[in-house]
Amino acid sequence: MCGIFGYIGKKENSLEIVIKGLQKLEYRGYDSWGVATEIDGQLFIEKKVGKISEAKTDDFHDKKCQFAIGHTRWATHGGVTDINAHPHFSSDKTIAVVHNGIIENYEELRDELGRDNFISQTDSEVVAQLIAKFRKEMSFKDAVLAAINKLKGRYAIVVMNVGENYLIAARRGSPLIVGVGDGEYFLASDIPAFLEYTQNVNYLDDDEMVIVDGNVEFINLTTGRSVEKRLINIDWKAEGAEKGEYDHYMLKEIMEQKDSILRAINQDTDEIMHIAQQIKKSRGCFFSGCGTAGKVCMAGEYFFSLIANRHVNFAPASEFPVYHHFLRPESLLVVVSQSGETADVLEAMDAAKSKNAKVLSIVNAEGSTIARQSDFSLHIKAGPEKAVASTKAATSQMALLMLIATAMVDELQEGRRQLAEVASKINDMLNPRFLTYIKAVAEKIKDHENCYIIGKAENYPMALEAAIKIQEVSYVHAEGFAAGELKHGPIALVTDGTPCIALVANDEVKNDTINNTIELKARGAHIIGISPEKHEVFDDWIKVPDVGIASPLVNIIPTQLLAYYIAVLRGLDPDMPRNLAKSVTVK
Ligand code: M6R
Repeated sequence: MCGIFGYIGKKENSLEIVIKGLQKLEYRGYDSWGVATEIDGQLFIEKKVGKISEAKTDDFHDKKCQFAIGHTRWATHGGVTDINAHPHFSSDKTIAVVHNGIIENYEELRDELGRDNFISQTDSEVVAQLIAKFRKEMSFKDAVLAAINKLKGRYAIVVMNVGENYLIAARRGSPLIVGVGDGEYFLASDIPAFLEYTQNVNYLDDDEMVIVDGNVEFINLTTGRSVEKRLINIDWKAEGAEKGEYDHYMLKEIMEQKDSILRAINQDTDEIMHIAQQIKKSRGCFFSGCGTAGKVCMAGEYFFSLIANRHVNFAPASEFPVYHHFLRPESLLVVVSQSGETADVLEAMDAAKSKNAKVLSIVNAEGSTIARQSDFSLHIKAGPEKAVASTKAATSQMALLMLIATAMVDELQEGRRQLAEVASKINDMLNPRFLTYIKAVAEKIKDHENCYIIGKAENYPMALEAAIKIQEVSYVHAEGFAAGELKHGPIALVTDGTPCIALVANDEVKNDTINNTIELKARGAHIIGISPEKHEVFDDWIKVPDVGIASPLVNIIPTQLLAYYIAVLRGLDPDMPRNLAKSVTVK
């Protein structure tokens, strides 16, 4: 939800650096963008509706300044217009601000500051006006502190003040990372934005502020005191965050599942055993996540039941409040997230912590808020995932949940061996012929407006997940169903030629799933079977390896590819679907 970027250092082409950084954050928001700096003692601002990837750095070549701020927006308050784009600035044009998050009391603050002074419909403009008001009576730093004290809600902000050669940033609930280069600093919503300059970072925690000039000073907003921070070296390469030879990040990330699963299961044995013990001894184990991560949790629920004979309670994080009253100190909340910044998940964690329950997180973004606020955190090591559609993170998270389930029944080594075999079979499966075949299947169904996916047992969550993938990138109305539920209603939707995808595994429920598929076929459905074995009911058969209980990990991959190719064949950009953003930091 919005990407912010600030630069201060020795280089004079700060605007070009900021634009390039924002282009790497485009996955966080892509409806409009803007930059600000100081030129000849005046505030310089450029804001535009459209994608930051369309901005040309050359246009800013002659605008020299050693600091600048910028923003790529995913609209919350106020429509997509040039004026509502960030940076927002004070009426006297001395203060400019970029903001990610939501200022909940902005209406109240607008009244206080005089509604006539506002030119945008955003909540963010109040931050600039408020700082400017305080700035008339105090230093830039104190004015930011005073303004922050009045803000309610979640935010990450970066602020500049004309005439002051430093930037100030602060956070509460939205991510902000400081990249520490050689005599230069980067303030960004995510690490890939500045990876080409530095791999050394400081994470800003909630209720902290940072003042950046030639040095960097962190301040705790509650105590007003300086805070010492550990410099962390990030083991990511800049190229890992680029598209490389692929047309889209989504395809690149699907292909990376050839080895990302292996990295996920390569965890410290003692740590996994410790976590398995914590789960076993917990009284009330809850799984929660959003979207795809939520479907991963559901798959985990099946793994825990089938492998570890352990009942867990899953709820999407946005629905988790219904479970709050069950939480107690002996409870354990397991949260799953790619970005580690999802607001609904953070709220579930807050609820758990308020009841002294423990939190285990399974995340991809190292050092993210969710990772740092958990009692235990496992990093899936999938590398940067930039496409809005989550793919490699999901399979890695499922692999790790399955590994933990095996550890709970003292079969960790065997679990690791099985999952390594799954990874190697996925490596074989993802060959060019396989991709060409799936593209041809996508070609057959791309013009249908409805598509249904069925699965049973551990493949039921994958039917739901396949539907999310197809919906979000191709805008086809896709829905996933438990195969056995069809006859209770959904089968009425099927008419001649409706594409229906059946996720079948070589498991105890195989015959049931095939029977349900036959029922669909009898109503005229065009059946795409994803299965290790061919069956006469399939009109198109996508062969996947036979991996037993791990079937969700392999069955989901062809559906990711189908979603990708349907989108591309419909002329859409799968990396930047409409209305969505990669990291959902608002509730
Ligand atoms: O970063 P998270 O894993 O917490 O994100 C959760 C969802 O927002 C995310 O999975 C979303 O549903 C994806 N767009 C699905 O592909």
